[in-house]
Amino acid sequence: MLTIRTPSHPFKDQRPGTSGLRKKVAVFQQPGYLENFVQALFDVLPDAAGQTLVLGGDGRFYNRVATQIILRMAAAKGYARVLVGQGGILSTPAVSAVIRHHGASGGIVLSASHNPGGPEGDFGIKYNIANGGPAPEKITEAMFERSKTVSEIHSIDSPDIALDALGTIYLGRMEVTVIDPVAIYLDLMQKLFDFNGMRKLFASGFRLRFDAMHAVGGPYAKAVLEGALGAPPGTVVNAIPLEDFGGLHPDPNPVNAEDLVHHLFAVDAPDMGAASDGDADRNMVVGRRFVVSPSDSLAVLLAHAHRVPGYRGGISGVARSMPTSQAVDKVAKAMGIPCYETPTGWKFFGNLMDAGLVSLCGEESYGTGSNHIREKDGLWAVLFWLNLIAVTGESVEALVRAMWKEHGRCVYSRHDYEGISLSSADALMRDLRASLHSLPGKSLAGCSIDFADDFSYTDPVDGSVSERQGVRIVLKDGSRAVFRLSGTGTDGATLRLYLERFEPDISRHDLPAEEALAPLAALAEAAANVRLQTGMDCPSVTT
Ligand code: G1P
Ligand code: ZN
Repeated sequence: MLTIRTPSHPFKDQRPGTSGLRKKVAVFQQPGYLENFVQALFDVLPDAAGQTLVLGGDGRFYNRVATQIILRMAAAKGYARVLVGQGGILSTPAVSAVIRHHGASGGIVLSASHNPGGPEGDFGIKYNIANGGPAPEKITEAMFERSKTVSEIHSIDSPDIALDALGTIYLGRMEVTVIDPVAIYLDLMQKLFDFNGMRKLFASGFRLRFDAMHAVGGPYAKAVLEGALGAPPGTVVNAIPLEDFGGLHPDPNPVNAEDLVHHLFAVDAPDMGAASDGDADRNMVVGRRFVVSPSDSLAVLLAHAHRVPGYRGGISGVARSMPTSQAVDKVAKAMGIPCYETPTGWKFFGNLMDAGLVSLCGEESYGTGSNHIREKDGLWAVLFWLNLIAVTGESVEALVRAMWKEHGRCVYSRHDYEGISLSSADALMRDLRASLHSLPGKSLAGCSIDFADDFSYTDPVDGSVSERQGVRIVLKDGSRAVFRLSGTGTDGATLRLYLERFEPDISRHDLPAEEALAPLAALAEAAANVRLQTGMDCPSVTT
C-alpha cells in the first residue's frame, strides 16, 4: 500500500453532480486532482471487500492515464475485481449494462459526454451505482464534502497494466479482467430487438449512414450494424474513436452533425441517417431529406413499441423532461398509459424505472432510453427505429408523419444563448420569475396566456421535491415558451429557450418551424427581454 500526502482539491466551482465532474484536461492533470475525486468517492463508499467495480471511458485524451491511476487506487480500496473495457474503452450505456449484468457494486465512467476532447478539451468522471444509473445526490454531496478534507491518497505501487489484450491479470490481490467492451451490450440488444428482421432489411438494400463522430459509439455501431446485422462495410463512418474526436464536436444535432444532414439531403441520400455523441448515450435520427426532432422520436417509439420484441409485454408508462415537447403525452393519452413530466436530467427517470412505473423515457436534448439500463442509449434508439422500419416497411418520414396526422404536430425548437455572463443570466431569470403572477389571463405579443409557473417536481417514488426547474409560459392549447439555465456548460451561463406550438391542422404541418414558432418567439421576447438581457440579437445555436 502506498499513501501519498496531497493537498485536498475541493471541486470548488463545480460540484460533482449526478452527471459527474467535467473540467478542462489541464485541471485534471494537476497533481492529485483526479486522485482527490476518486479518494473522496472511495471514502464515502462502504467497504469494497468481495465487490466488483466496472471501469471504462469514451477514449478521449487522458482516458488511459486516468484508468491506470484508478486501477491502482481500486486495489488499495480492496475491491475483489475490476472489469475494465479493452483499451480502457466502454460507452456510458455499456457501463450501465455491464454493472447490471455482473451484479457489480458500481462503475466509474470516464467521459465529458458530448464536450470536445483532446489536450485542450474537456475530461470528466462520474460514478454509477449498482442499478447501473448515476449516483444519486446524497452520494455526490457526501463526496463533495469529503473532497474538502482528503489529505491522503491510497494507492498501490505497481507498473501500468496492459489494457489492450483481453484476459485477467492481478494487481496486488485484486483481479483485473479486461473485457470486450461490446459483447455484453450486443447480447442485450439481441434480447430486445428483432435481429433477423433487421438483417433482412439490410439484405434487401436498405441504406443507413451512422456517424460515430470519432467517438466511442464507433466500435459498438460497427459490431452491431456491420457485424451482427450485416449492413454493408462503410455504413458506420468516423468509426474509430480518437482522443480528440478528430477535432469534431461529438454532440449529435443538426448543427454539429451538419455533414450527416448534408448526406441525407443529397440526391443519392441513404434511407436513414443516425449519429451518437462522445460517450454514445445520445442519438440523432434523420430520414431521407427529413430531420426528426428527439421529442417526436420518443412519441414514435412509444406508438410502435408493441411491434418490438423487448416491449411486446407492454409499456407501464413513459416519462419526458419538462422542456421536451408534449408529443409523447398525446400518444400516451391515446394508449391510456401514464406520462410523467420530470425536471431536466436523466437521474429523475431512474427512480421511476426502478419502481416499475416507466418503460420508455426521453429528453429533447437527443437522449432516449428504456428500462433495459439506467442511462440513455444512443445505439439502442437507432436499433429501435431500424426494427420499426423492418416490421412496418415504412420510411422514417412516413412514421413521423403518421404520428402527426393522428395526434397533431408539436412544432418544436430550442434556442441556446451561450456564453452570457452569469449576472445577466440570473437577472433575466429573476425578472421573469418576479413577473410570473401577472401573466395568466394577459395577452402578450398577440398570445393569450393561460398560465405561467416555475416548474416544481415531486418525485412520486421518494417524495423528494425539486423546485425552480424552469419557467413555463403556457397558452390554452398547450403551446408554450420555457426558459431555463443550462447546468452543464463550462463557460459562463447558457440560457435555453424552448418553443413549442401545437398544430392539429395537417395542411399546416409543413410550415417551416421558424415561421410556425414566430408568435411564441415574440411572446418569449416580450416576457423576458431576451435581447436586452443577453446582449445578443439571436441565439448562438438553434436546434
Ligand atoms: C443538457 C441537456 C439535458 C441533459 C444534460 C446531460 O443539460 O439539456 O437534457 O440531461 O445535458 O446530458 P443542460 O445543459 O440543459 O442543463
Ligand atoms: Zn453523452
